[in-house]
Formats: sequence, C-alpha cells, structure tokens
Amino acid sequence: MNISTDYRYSGLRRSLHWLSALVIIWALISGTCLAFFPLTADVQQWLGRFNVALTLLFIPFFLLRLVLAVLQPKPATTALTVRQQRLAATGHGLIYVAVLAVLFSGVFMLERPAPVFGLTELMPPLRAGAATAFFAALHHYSCVLLALLVLGHIAAVIVHQRRGVRLMQKML
Ligand code: HEM
Ligand code: HEM
Repeated sequence: MNISTDYRYSGLRRSLHWLSALVIIWALISGTCLAFFPLTADVQQWLGRFNVALTLLFIPFFLLRLVLAVLQPKPATTALTVRQQRLAATGHGLIYVAVLAVLFSGVFMLERPAPVFGLTELMPPLRAGAATAFFAALHHYSCVLLALLVLGHIAAVIVHQRRGVRLMQKML
C-alpha cells in the first residue's frame, strides 16, 4: 500500500523522532546502569561524561522537534476514533513535557563543568548545594516518568499495529 506524504509526518519530523528515540533510550538505559550497577571508576567517568555531552548536544534538536510539533498539524489516524486520537495526542504531549523536565533538571543539577566532546564546556548554572540536590532528585523522578511513558508509547504502537492500525507507517 502506498502512503500519501500528507498521511506521514514530514521527513524532518520523522528523522528527529528516531534521533530522539535513540538518544533517549540510550540515556535512560545507560544512566540507569550508571546509577544502580557497580561499574569500574573508569567506565563510570567515561559514561557519565559521554552522556552529559551527548544529551547537551541533543537539546537544540529536541527544541526544533517541539517547535515543529506545535506549528505543524499531526497527521490524522482515520482508523482511530477522535477520542482515541485525542488520548494519543495527550500522551505525546506528556512525553514532550517529561523530556523537557529531564533536560532542564539535568543542566541545573550539574555541580562541575561539563565538557562537550572538546567543542565547548558548560559551566554549572548553580552553586553545589540544596538547589542542585533538588534538581538531581527532579532528574531522577522525571527519568522514571519518561521511562514509563516511553514504555506505554511503544506498547500502544505495538497493540494498534497488531490490530491493523498502521501507525508505524506514519513514522517510517
Ligand atoms: C522503538 C521505539 C519507538 C517506536 C516504535 C515509536 C513509534 C512511534 C510512532 C509510530 C508514532 C506515530 C504515532 C501517531 O502519530 O499516532 C510516534 C510518535 C511519537 N513518538 Fe515515538 N516511537 C518510539 C520511541 C519514542 C521515544 C523514545 C520517544 C521519546 C521522546 C517518542 C516520542 C514520540 C512522540 C512525542 C510522538 C508524537 C509526535 C508528534 O505528534 O509530535 N517515541 N512514535
Ligand atoms: C535525554 C535526556 C536525558 C536522559 C534520558 C537522562 C537520563 C539519566 C538517567 C537515567 C540518570 C540516572 C539517574 C538516577 O536515577 O539517579 C542520569 C544521571 C545524570 N544525568 Fe541525565 N539524562 C538526560 C539528560 C541530561 C542532561 C542534559 C544533563 C546535563 C547536562 C544530565 C546530567 C546527568 C548527570 C550529571 C547525572 C548523574 C550521573 C552520574 O552519576 O555520574 N542528564 N541521567
């Protein structure tokens, strides 16, 4: 079946979706390993620095994605009821809010300068103390919320796809 281009998300939105999916799934899984599994000091330091640099570079791409989501209409899924489409749009909105919370709290929890692959260095916006500890806790809980939302998102795509609603074709 051929999908007309106005049924799919634009090429730019599709690319940004898959870039976000890669970065976010990687950062969620590797960040959890960093926080909860015993890793050698070298691996811990490398992974911590790599993830901070990667997610900092990701911020402008995510902001562009957010602007496009606000400016461009969502392609309709006519196989779903209007109520189901509204529910999906609300779920997607929550994912955007959770990613914003994760990125914002990540920057404000920094307690030492963060090198970005030798290109530049981000200085911590706040002095280490109660405020950075608050943002570290916010980072932790917003990551848990984002992980749950992403799991729900992937499950919803699989369930609809199995019922014959061709959601994936909108994003491929
Ligand atoms: C393997 C993992 C993933 C698959 C298979 C997948 C699949 C899809 C599909 C098929 C859509 C179109 C749904 C529709 O328009 O009704 C979509 C939209 C969306 N996905 Fe994913 N996704 C994945 C991972 C992620 C991740 C990690 C995020 C986190 C940022 C994410 C965020 C979104 C958002 C926000 C939308 C709505 C786009 C918009 O309308 O602005 N997805 N995804
Ligand atoms: C895509 C967005 C991001 C995701 C999914 C993510 C995910 C995570 C996760 C799962 C953890 C472990 C948290 C815990 O439960 O204790 C973590 C830790 C951390 N994140 Fe993020 N993060 C993101 C963005 C950022 C950004 C933009 C920064 C700062 C520039 C940042 C800085 C940190 C720091 C400093 C830690 C503590 C790492 C350590 O213990 O060495 N994160 N992140």
